[in-house]
Amino acid sequence: MTIPRKVAVIGAGDIGVGWAALCASAGWPVAIFDLNPATMERASVEVERRTRALVALDRAPESIVERGLTELVRTEFLSEAIQDADWIIEAIHEDVLAKQKLLAAIEPLAGDDALISSSSSGLPPTEIFGRMRRLDRCLVTHPLNPPELIPIVEVVPEGRTSAASMNRAVEYLRSLGRFPIVLKKSIPGYVVGRVSAAVWRECIDLVLRGVISVDDLDRAVSLGPAIGWAAAGPHLTYHLAAGEGGIRSFTQHLLASFESWWQQLAHWAQLDPEQQRALIQSIERAYKGKVEFLREARDRRLSAILKGLEQARAPSGSESG
Ligand SMILES: NC(=O)c1ccc[n+]([C@@H]2O[C@H](COP(=O)([O-])OP(=O)(O)OC[C@H]3O[C@@H](n4cnc5c(N)ncnc54)[C@H](O)[C@@H]3O)[C@@H](O)[C@H]2O)c1
Repeated sequence: MTIPRKVAVIGAGDIGVGWAALCASAGWPVAIFDLNPATMERASVEVERRTRALVALDRAPESIVERGLTELVRTEFLSEAIQDADWIIEAIHEDVLAKQKLLAAIEPLAGDDALISSSSSGLPPTEIFGRMRRLDRCLVTHPLNPPELIPIVEVVPEGRTSAASMNRAVEYLRSLGRFPIVLKKSIPGYVVGRVSAAVWRECIDLVLRGVISVDDLDRAVSLGPAIGWAAAGPHLTYHLAAGEGGIRSFTQHLLASFESWWQQLAHWAQLDPEQQRALIQSIERAYKGKVEFLREARDRRLSAILKGLEQARAPSGSESG
């Protein structure tokens, strides 16, 4: 198992805190840094809360979590965070110029062997790392939110990323109990963002056209296709949906229906301000509870799903999907 001597997380928003909690929960030494002192203060509390929540959710053993938390360093200095780190995770907001500027500042401070990854949700790696001199050790590791719970991480090469760096990122992620998905090449939004954006656009459209309420739509997805997709991805789902004939039979019987729906699906690319207001109002009306409370409930359900999936998975891993 390859593990880093120290991880530096730069940016302590939702994702930076999640990365720090995940690495600390594996007992790894982590240093976290944010430009904003108020965020740093909140992050100190949040990393501990989210790391310990993993024990309560049965996702990490207490002794290892406590060891990780003793080694957690919050620092006011970028150089201190990066010193001796062999994995540097950039997790600042999705702004390509800000990322380029930060990464250019990180490069001379980083050790020769350090791996540098960005948490971007979909920016092209060639742009993110556009101001770096060495690209062999740069790549994107795109987590899903919350990173300490959802196991998939997209690994996206820059084009000049070395195979050794790709392998190392994959090994680090596997050591953290993640499922790294390696993209063969970069595409805006990567894979997860594009699939999510396609589904969300149709969901928004159905709500704004008055076909269904926000909470019923959410239930229709989370207890419908999403629960099926948690057990088998969309292709396997349809391969299993038409008896012995598999996907051949499915396409014979149902492709025409899908084709007629595809013609009618939403294809807009922007929401005007009035539509944005209507969408926000409908979502806030549907979910009146505090975000913190709703998030805790979501995390409980997520960890129960993960536990169930882990128990049901064949030991050989032969039944993929
Ligand atoms: N939020 C999500 O659901 C999600 C999911 C996956 C990936 N991502 C990606 O992860 C990254 C971080 O997202 P987030 O939601 O945590 O953002 P965020 O806005 O919550 O946090 C970003 C943090 O970075 C800090 N920051 C800005 N410039 C900095 C600098 N130069 N040095 C140090 N700190 C700096 C800010 O003070 C802020 O605390 C983005 O690239 C985003 O696209 C987000």
